[in-house]
Amino acid sequence: MAKPIYTTHLGMFDILPDESPKWRAIEDIIHEEAAKFNFEEIRTPIMEQTELIKRGIGQLTDIVTKEIFAFTKGDSNYVLRPELTAPVVRSFVEHHLDQRGGSQKLYYIGPMFRAERPQKGRQRQFHQFGVEIIGSNDAIADVECIAFMMGIYKRIGIKNFNLKINSVGDPESRDTYKTVLRDYLKPHFQKLSELSQKRFEKNPMRILDSKEPEDQEFIKNAPIIGDFLNEESETHFNLICDYLKKLDIEFTIDPLLVRGMDYYTRTAFELTSPDLGSQDALAGGGRYDLLVEEIGGQPTPAVGFAAGIERLLIACEELNITLAEPKSVDIYFVALGETARTWALTTLPTLRKKGISATMDYLGRSMRAQMKDANRENANFTLIVGDNELEEGKFTLRNMKESDEKLLSLDDILTFFDR
Ligand code: HAM
Repeated sequence: MAKPIYTTHLGMFDILPDESPKWRAIEDIIHEEAAKFNFEEIRTPIMEQTELIKRGIGQLTDIVTKEIFAFTKGDSNYVLRPELTAPVVRSFVEHHLDQRGGSQKLYYIGPMFRAERPQKGRQRQFHQFGVEIIGSNDAIADVECIAFMMGIYKRIGIKNFNLKINSVGDPESRDTYKTVLRDYLKPHFQKLSELSQKRFEKNPMRILDSKEPEDQEFIKNAPIIGDFLNEESETHFNLICDYLKKLDIEFTIDPLLVRGMDYYTRTAFELTSPDLGSQDALAGGGRYDLLVEEIGGQPTPAVGFAAGIERLLIACEELNITLAEPKSVDIYFVALGETARTWALTTLPTLRKKGISATMDYLGRSMRAQMKDANRENANFTLIVGDNELEEGKFTLRNMKESDEKLLSLDDILTFFDR
């Protein structure tokens, strides 16, 4: 076979017809579960202004320094969105969604873009679903986010995971902790990785998230944020832990959990799965009480999470979870001759109006070839139409699974399929 001239970009994939039913099944579950939680869907553009993403996620984060797909058009700088928290907050501020009253309970599903080195479970275009609850300070909002996230995995049948949570403190607790952490790391500064040295001044907490081998020894013995939380942050965190226990949601507290974006305050959580390889994070999220103000809105607390859909699909594959039945069609019209084909074409709408899925051959093939095609299409029934059948007004409806046939009029057929 000739080699194709054009291919998808490295780390980006087509979702082909055989795979799309799985995606639809997951998306249906997300929409259904979101409705149960009374979350409303939000859809924002794929592109955002570079400045929003830099300001929202943080100038020194990996995403901003290394992973954004950025481009210029005229005088404007854009990026393909690497995540949706900053864009959703932009939308919240731009459209004054606070004026709708209460807290905004938003969810989304869509593609994100990060120029990472592709590997299993790490793409350059990947899909997330997520939730952002904007306008609530209450630990209940954090827990509802987590409960929604866990509910989706449970419903799909993924049960084997670790939920890790931590509090990264509010600005006051963080300032105290950052000073303590810097004091602790200072004597070892020269031994830290280059990246950690860069983060030392502006965001020393991200050093705790470093995967560089030379940093591990210092991370292991570092002071932990939990010991420096002020009363408010501590109460909030304890309340979340209590609520999670009451909801029977298992978790572990991971004092080293800091996340990859600068916007997090207080709650941070991550869901990992042993069924994934090295890219084991299924989902992650937390609070970002300062982001709305940072992006130009009124001070407004918020919390959310996002989950990778490709990673969810990998976990399903590992666990042999069937998300969608193989595709099928109710009736395949096997029509022979011009008159019969025209009758078939003009009868299809009658069936479809009744909610029956129906198709016919588009290639004018022989009866045998059409029967073969009906099998390939996984048709439940074939309807054989030729001149004789049209004259008598009776057609052979063949059950393809049970190889049993009935001679029926069109009305009988419609009654037969009446659901
Ligand atoms: P994140 O941890 O960067 O958080 O991404 C969330 C999830 O997206 C990850 O746990 C992973 O499943 C998936 N993911 C991330 N990068 C890739 C990739 N390159 N390939 C495949 N999957 C990937 C956020 O994006 C935050 N906006 C979450 C959040 C919402 N925090 C508060 N609200």
